[in-house]
Amino acid sequence: MSGLVVAMDGPSGSGKSSASRGVARALGLRYLDTGAMYRAVTWWMLQRGVDLADAATIAARAGEPALTVGTDPDSPGIAVDGADVSGPIRGSEVTGAVSAVSAVPEVRRRLVDLQREIIAAALPSGGIVVEGRDIGTVVAPDAPVKVYLTASAEARAVRRTAELAGTTVEAQRAAMARRDALDSTRTIDPLAKAADAVELDTTPLDLDEVIAEVLRLVKERT
Ligand code: DC
Repeated sequence: MSGLVVAMDGPSGSGKSSASRGVARALGLRYLDTGAMYRAVTWWMLQRGVDLADAATIAARAGEPALTVGTDPDSPGIAVDGADVSGPIRGSEVTGAVSAVSAVPEVRRRLVDLQREIIAAALPSGGIVVEGRDIGTVVAPDAPVKVYLTASAEARAVRRTAELAGTTVEAQRAAMARRDALDSTRTIDPLAKAADAVELDTTPLDLDEVIAEVLRLVKERT
């Protein structure tokens, strides 16, 4: 059983999602959005009225939501307890709460296990492109291709503002700075570049150029 794993890490707005889906499509691989999994668990906690400052309760209930995670790069849906939550998990309420939930070790342990199962299941059919914050460092440390995407704070805020209605570049810049700080300074599996990852600054590149660069790396490393 062999198959390719491409690890795509980086902060929000670095262009990870579009690039990861494009690379998966180009290579005929599956695609896994691990951020959507943390968002789905966060959505479930909010629905249940769990206090986000109460890490002990988040930890105790981390095993309850049943996730169904799609891996089709053209329509990667995600469901919790059978209900599709692809839309709600992108809302500002979840976005504002996800860093607190994803910092809880029991949540991470459970989701990392699930991510490894999904990756293993995709290998026989060719492999998978996995995007997140800790893929190259924790989830798939043996991945032959690891990319760490970055972009200037300005470029990231402009991209995110274009994706969302009713926001401003300034508001996005502040929200992203806050989330980056939380994601990079948490004690467990923080956002980090793996020592063997190739850093790619996407600031001056358009999407096709980012995809082409990752495809070049895949060719070089495989
Ligand atoms: O990629 P995203 O913005 O959808 O991710 C949402 C949050 O989930 C992000 O703020 C940090 C967390 N996350 C994580 O801790 N580990 C991952 N592998 C992916 C996301």
